[in-house]
Amino acid sequence: MTAIEPVKKPALGVCYYPEHWPKEMWADDAKRIVECGIEYVRIAEFAWSRIEATRDKFNFEWLDSAIETLGAAGLKVVMCTPTATPPKWLVDEMPDMVAVDSDGNPRKWGSRRHYDFSHEEYRKECARITMVLAKRYGSDSNVVAWQTDNEYGCHDTTLSYSESARDGFRNWLAQKYQSPDALNKAWGNVFWSMEVESFNEVELPNLTVTEPNPSHVLDYRRFASDQVVAFNRIQTGILRKHSPGRDIIHNFMGRYLEFDHFDVSADLDIASWDSYPIGFLEQFGRDHAWKNWYMRAGDPDFQAFHHDLYRACGNMRGQAGNGGGRWWVMEQQPGPVNWAPYNPDPHPGMVRLWSHEAFAHGAEVVSYFRWRQAPFAQEQFHAGLNRPDNSPDRGFEEAEKTGKEISSLPNAETAQSAVALLVDYPSLWATETQPQGAGYHAINVIWEFYSTLRQLGQSVDIVSTAHNLDGYKLIVVPQLLMVSDDMIAKLDECEARIVFGPRCGSRTMSHHIPEGLAPGNLRQLIDIRVDRVESLRPGVGEAVEHVGAMWKWIEHVSTSADVTVESKMSNGRPAWMRQKNVSYVAGWPDEALCKHIMQVELEAAGVSVVETGDDLRIRDRGNLRTILNYGPKPRDASHLIAPTDKVLIGSANMDVAGVTVVQRT
Ligand code: GAL
Repeated sequence: MTAIEPVKKPALGVCYYPEHWPKEMWADDAKRIVECGIEYVRIAEFAWSRIEATRDKFNFEWLDSAIETLGAAGLKVVMCTPTATPPKWLVDEMPDMVAVDSDGNPRKWGSRRHYDFSHEEYRKECARITMVLAKRYGSDSNVVAWQTDNEYGCHDTTLSYSESARDGFRNWLAQKYQSPDALNKAWGNVFWSMEVESFNEVELPNLTVTEPNPSHVLDYRRFASDQVVAFNRIQTGILRKHSPGRDIIHNFMGRYLEFDHFDVSADLDIASWDSYPIGFLEQFGRDHAWKNWYMRAGDPDFQAFHHDLYRACGNMRGQAGNGGGRWWVMEQQPGPVNWAPYNPDPHPGMVRLWSHEAFAHGAEVVSYFRWRQAPFAQEQFHAGLNRPDNSPDRGFEEAEKTGKEISSLPNAETAQSAVALLVDYPSLWATETQPQGAGYHAINVIWEFYSTLRQLGQSVDIVSTAHNLDGYKLIVVPQLLMVSDDMIAKLDECEARIVFGPRCGSRTMSHHIPEGLAPGNLRQLIDIRVDRVESLRPGVGEAVEHVGAMWKWIEHVSTSADVTVESKMSNGRPAWMRQKNVSYVAGWPDEALCKHIMQVELEAAGVSVVETGDDLRIRDRGNLRTILNYGPKPRDASHLIAPTDKVLIGSANMDVAGVTVVQRT
């Protein structure tokens, strides 16, 4: 593995809300934050009403003094723009600035994120407040970085069906298609007399009698994503100019797919995300048994997937080399949360485990949400590092311990992995638009490939279609529905083995069936034709020779003489086929089949495979290997440690929430 970025000393951070506590507490808080081993403090992302109580009536005294107090204690401040919480007076001035849901209901003021990304006047207000803050704090030596807004899209706010979204969409379409005829053709509007004579006749794709045209929906999703990019760019432009030398960050979410995070990240210095493993397990975990087993730990691959995704986002200009990228965990779950259907307490040690895992994936900073649990308002049940009475909670002790441990570890460099996995947001939108089967979630197909690779001991680099693919030995492309000609050329040049999942190449950029049928232009790499597809009821599948089955989704594929069928389904149809270095999986493989395919491919690519075993996961970074026990039982990890490895933290006998770090020779 080649070292590809300068080594940065990892650090801890915390989210702090001076405006929630009496001023008399701030100095002591700052002192204790430092004592806990924390270096970064994120502030002010929801403080607009305290900064500007009514238009142009600013109060900076408290914020000046909070920043000064934190800085005097030696802390580095991450300052935020407060645009996720426009104050009441502003919403009253322009009531149509709120987003509208798909039923046509305006989202009301009274919590947060009550704005529409397309609202031009609100964008101007955001530019105004960002400018005011950037001018005031942009050169403050205590301010080292900025966070734009907070969690774009949270609470379902990317897709809005407002008038401003409609007008914006019409302009976006006019630019893209130039003439209504071109749009009619691209969308296939002749189908149900959906043709338009002017862009002003185009409506948003909600409240239609039955499903709207998928090409219309896909363009609307692209438009909505572009709105987030444009909204963010207004702030980053101002911050770059008026706060030189400071890193610009945004905090993304887990399993949030409604805008293209790679596109937004192109304007950031650092990508970050908010990691709430137990809340996410409750929301997105596989099934009841899975959720029960991991209820105090979170899904063993969910965090890793997002760490790798956001590391890739932090490398949108390829500046850190393949596999690198600047990224943080901006909010780390510190104890029970308040927002999932059930909110169990993490196993003692989990907060430490999650933190070590992030550093093992190359995080520069892990920042805990929040310093002290709030005794008022919406998140009273959400733990902090301290309880509301200021006594340290378990998260405090675990953060403190983690801080000491990470500073005792030798530096490790992020290196390019042997395996890359491709994620493409427009393909996710395209399958969501026409899933053709109740259980078809493209993101789950991606996760299952990712999780299988992890269980085979792989440290994976996630890549987008924009990233460089040189140097990988295996590239897994689970769900790339629409493949550009540039992408075909890039894949064609690749020396790696490439595995395509089902539905790859099955739509054109306009969401049509491609000429010559699926997989469209992918046929240049593997000469097959998908004649028919079917989705299956839960629990039903088609056995595959040697191992496992296809389930949920099956394709009937014809192959040319250049293609070798690697395995067949019990009905004789090809299940997995290959032409030279490229193979194609004609359905949604179950766990056993996916594992078989990945194992064969890894071995053929010359990548060493180690089965991590139940509940255990590893992540290699430089010559450090971090081993984690996500299960509710102690586990033996001796098969993951070579006799020549030097154990730096933990041991081969791993307790629940155990972390073992070894230096490999
Ligand atoms: C995040 C959000 C924080 C806080 C946290 C609670 O989504 O950014 O402000 O609400 O969730 O877990």
